[in-house]
Amino acid sequence: MSSKFKDLIFYEIYPTSFYDSNGDGIGDLNGINEKLDYVKELGCNAIWLNPFYSSPFKDGGYDVKDFFKVDEKFGTNEDFKNLATKAHKLGIKVIVDLVIGHSSEENEEFLKSASPYRNENSDLFIWTDSVWSFEPNIRLLNGRFPRDGAYMVNFFAMQPAFNYGFNKITNPNWQMSYKDERTFKARNYMLKVMKFWLDLGCDGFRVDMADYLVKNDDTKEGTIEVWKYLFSKIRKDYPDAYFVSEWSSPDKALLAGFDADFVLDHNNNFINLLGRNQEKMIVKGNSREQFIKDLLWRQENANKYNGVLAPISGNHDSRRVATSLNEKELQLVYMILLSLPGNPFIYYGDEIGMVQSELISKDGGYQRTGARTPMQWDDSPNAGFSSTKNELYLPVFKGNKNNLKDEMNDPSSIYHFIKKLIRIRKENDDLRSSYLDVKDENDILTIIRGQTKLIINFSKKDLSLEGKEIIFTNSKGNILKPFEAALVK
Ligand code: NOJ
Ligand code: CA
Repeated sequence: MSSKFKDLIFYEIYPTSFYDSNGDGIGDLNGINEKLDYVKELGCNAIWLNPFYSSPFKDGGYDVKDFFKVDEKFGTNEDFKNLATKAHKLGIKVIVDLVIGHSSEENEEFLKSASPYRNENSDLFIWTDSVWSFEPNIRLLNGRFPRDGAYMVNFFAMQPAFNYGFNKITNPNWQMSYKDERTFKARNYMLKVMKFWLDLGCDGFRVDMADYLVKNDDTKEGTIEVWKYLFSKIRKDYPDAYFVSEWSSPDKALLAGFDADFVLDHNNNFINLLGRNQEKMIVKGNSREQFIKDLLWRQENANKYNGVLAPISGNHDSRRVATSLNEKELQLVYMILLSLPGNPFIYYGDEIGMVQSELISKDGGYQRTGARTPMQWDDSPNAGFSSTKNELYLPVFKGNKNNLKDEMNDPSSIYHFIKKLIRIRKENDDLRSSYLDVKDENDILTIIRGQTKLIINFSKKDLSLEGKEIIFTNSKGNILKPFEAALVK
């Protein structure tokens, strides 16, 4: 990875819910633009924007209708350009979501592919050779379009899969090898999409379902080969573009050429794998031992392939991390997150301790919508998110006690806690290096980063830190009570 990206701390923004600049009740790109100073003040130097492309929003915008156009509700392509320009002036990198595996069923390229007459797009998506085809273990949808075939579903039903080919072929009548040149059309189409947004000013991509390009590809060798091809092309013109993968297998993603790979657990944030205490694990079956083994294995691969890990506080798919943790536990989460090597990601609102809203569903979010409610800026109507007098597109969650204004006024808030940790990370060479070791002795967990150590007391007894230089702690003085931790030298 380019050294330019080594020290990035990301802030993830779900465009619908960050800030509404024009009072129509929906967040937008100009709203994000207006709040970039805030992102900078927090200490983040990069943002990841969830999809803002033209879409019917049956999956939060991950169902793209037009890959080259900002959706009207978020603004215009010009607004994106302005946002990138402003971000760069503030020293903030901008990455956008690359939804590489599927489009919306309303996408023009797909509709052309769905035509009964053969045309240049016929092989751009995966279709069977007959509308009556059935194939075990492959999700096919038939009877929706005039073409005599069924299309392969990539995620939700309305998300047809682009055709990057197959590794193991079970039906040669319609499955093509990923080495078959006909499948290169999808690769080249996505290269066009990447170039388009890079030219408009983005610095890279978070790649959606990056591990699932080639189908029937258990070993992932096909998908890895496709990525190597894509990187060989795109890095020629954009050597510094940053790519982080939704793959969660650094041994494959970083080998394929990604700069970073998320560390995440789809049941909950990976942070929760630590468990809240010995007896009552948040995620059953995940012991601290496994967590440590997994983390060290990931870091080993990151070092091996010259990439980094991207640990997250949460994201638009996971349950808000603050929801089920007490104050001390939440502090531990951020002490760990910001002490790990790589590029940490903070999900908007997590820095003020926003919690999961009750069950609502919008834009195909289902239970995930609970983590996508509007950012709570202050205590004014609509939490300062929008000036509209009408109903908001997505309601503010009243169960959230926290808002940024109060958090800023309270020196003991989680907001100030995180902000301080970010500052420390930026100034500490150990924390920004790639060195990681972890020790777990007598329920004292130590995350070792060169000369700097994060000591966490998971035992039931007090732990004295006498003689150690304390850089940061959530304890009072140099005694760590249970669930307290300290960064020391
Ligand atoms: C992962 C995204 O994070 C999620 O929100 C989306 O529904 C699926 N991929 C499908 O694109
Ligand atoms: Ca708006």
